[in-house]
Amino acid sequence: MKNIVVLVSGGGTNLQALIDAQKRGELTGGKITCVISSNPNAYALTRAADNNIETAVIRRKDFAAFEDYDKALTALLQSKQADVVVLAGFMTILGKEVIRAFENRIINIHPALIPSFCGEGYYGLRVHEEALKKGVKVTGATAHFVNEICDGGPIIMQKAVEVQNGDTPEILQKRVMEQAEWKILPRSVALFCEDKIKVSGNKTEILE
Ligand code: GAR
Repeated sequence: MKNIVVLVSGGGTNLQALIDAQKRGELTGGKITCVISSNPNAYALTRAADNNIETAVIRRKDFAAFEDYDKALTALLQSKQADVVVLAGFMTILGKEVIRAFENRIINIHPALIPSFCGEGYYGLRVHEEALKKGVKVTGATAHFVNEICDGGPIIMQKAVEVQNGDTPEILQKRVMEQAEWKILPRSVALFCEDKIKVSGNKTEILE
């Protein structure tokens, strides 16, 4: 059974999707053992507590040097014996140390079809604002492993979502969450926990 540690910063609807998947018996190879937030006021922490999941907080601003923060986060994840780390709306960039310590074991959910609308500065609502500005007719979400290139690691799953007339960034964000993120993130974590994701270079193969 793999220990799933989830990193959050905000509302935690993706964390909720993982908890719901676990309750439905869909995360057979793993268990959500800890939720770590970059923000002590994140509602995601309440969702974890309501489900009797251990929580911790680690704030970037409590460390003068980024390297010290990177080391502390790595040590915290190791102390929780994380087998897989899930970034579920985690808004702090990860450092080299943690990425190397958990190579191909950190899964991120990004609210667009990578390589569109991704990279530094593309997070949360901003991603949907840019998609609407460009006028794309289809957007979606991507679950991928994290490497040292921002949003550049091996893609695990993607799901497309249609843009509709009159969409605002908020409406589009909600549709992308409901139709894509909340489905492909739990599924990707389940596949990882069942050892069904084979990584070769920058690509993955799902062994179904
Ligand atoms: C989600 O839409 C997630 O894809 C996005 O932040 C939101 C968090 O919502 N993540 C990123 O933009 C990462 N680059 P949540 O806290 O309700 O899960």
